[in-house]
Amino acid sequence: MSMSPGFQIAIVTGGGDCPGLNTVIRAVVKAAARRGWQSYGVLGGFEGLLSPTRFRPLAYQDMDGLLFRGGTILGTSNRGRFVAKTGYGDVQRIDPEILAEAKANFDEQGLNALVCIGGDGSLTIASQLHGAGIPVVGVPKTIDNDLEATLMTFGYVSAVSCAVDALDRLHTTAESHNRVMVLEVMGRYAGWIAMAAGLAGGADIILIPEIPFRYEPIVAKVREREMMGKLFTIIAVAEGARPAGGEFVTSGEAGSDREARLGGIGNIVAKEVETRTGKESRTVVLGHLQRGGAPTAWDRHLCTSFGVAAVDAVAQGQFGQMVSFVGTGTCMVPLAEAIGRIRTVPPDGDQVRTARALGVSFGNE
Ligand code: F6P
Repeated sequence: MSMSPGFQIAIVTGGGDCPGLNTVIRAVVKAAARRGWQSYGVLGGFEGLLSPTRFRPLAYQDMDGLLFRGGTILGTSNRGRFVAKTGYGDVQRIDPEILAEAKANFDEQGLNALVCIGGDGSLTIASQLHGAGIPVVGVPKTIDNDLEATLMTFGYVSAVSCAVDALDRLHTTAESHNRVMVLEVMGRYAGWIAMAAGLAGGADIILIPEIPFRYEPIVAKVREREMMGKLFTIIAVAEGARPAGGEFVTSGEAGSDREARLGGIGNIVAKEVETRTGKESRTVVLGHLQRGGAPTAWDRHLCTSFGVAAVDAVAQGQFGQMVSFVGTGTCMVPLAEAIGRIRTVPPDGDQVRTARALGVSFGNE
């Protein structure tokens, strides 16, 4: 099938937001407009496909300023009737009536394709919508960078930059006060943000979900630094990190349409380190600062490539597929193969080995 002038496409942003969503929307709308297509935004996430539908026409000239604007002008949601995942490996079938309603509304609007921008959960929804007859193209988003089928998701580098900025700031105050400073960053199942930010921000200890930790090596690292005349220590901890044999630390319970909210491990680590070393230890939880604000130059570049690739894929009828970054450019991968495959930090991979070579502790030595 080839797409010609007069075609109409819709764009939906699903799941948690991140820097770069608007950049992708801009690229899709502009590239589509140059082909003579009309774009619509689905408002409020996938729910906007259900009656009463919420479609907003998006024109080329509406895209001013979106290149670097954080968030999503369309709104998003990771709860509601479209939830297809409430945990890793836990795929639920969306109610067939909901899928059929979305398909009927899609047809009634006269749409020819749906560009779904999201992480594993939203792409799982996208895949089921495709199964229900909607021609779908996926674009991979998440600050966690945890999708196996793409070398990188957009939003990740912006989140890492935010975390590095925080580490730089903590560094100077930690040094002034001879304190232990713990920075808790996002990263539920994958510790990519803590890993990359820890390396780039000079953390002395990095704790990630992939490497269960113990307190003895952490205390030993603090002591080792003191013997070298370094009276402060910086710890970067992913929210999903936990002690060997321990559970996730949560700050909100799981529901039928959501995973448990993570948060609190940073404080636990700081308290334990303070008790064991006698050194004053403080925690900063970076939280949603990592998800807000402008995308970095790299993410703007990646998002623009993703948006154009998504429009190319629609033009070529490559539906049921997701745009993937392969290092030198983009390619398409089947959605069915992309979802449910999480990419975690290899405990003996390059980054971990690089950090260890500099003496960084992962709390498991
Ligand atoms: O998946 C992205 C992410 O930012 C995770 O790192 C974090 O656990 C989760 O979303 C937080 O989601 P919410 O904003 O819904 O609490």
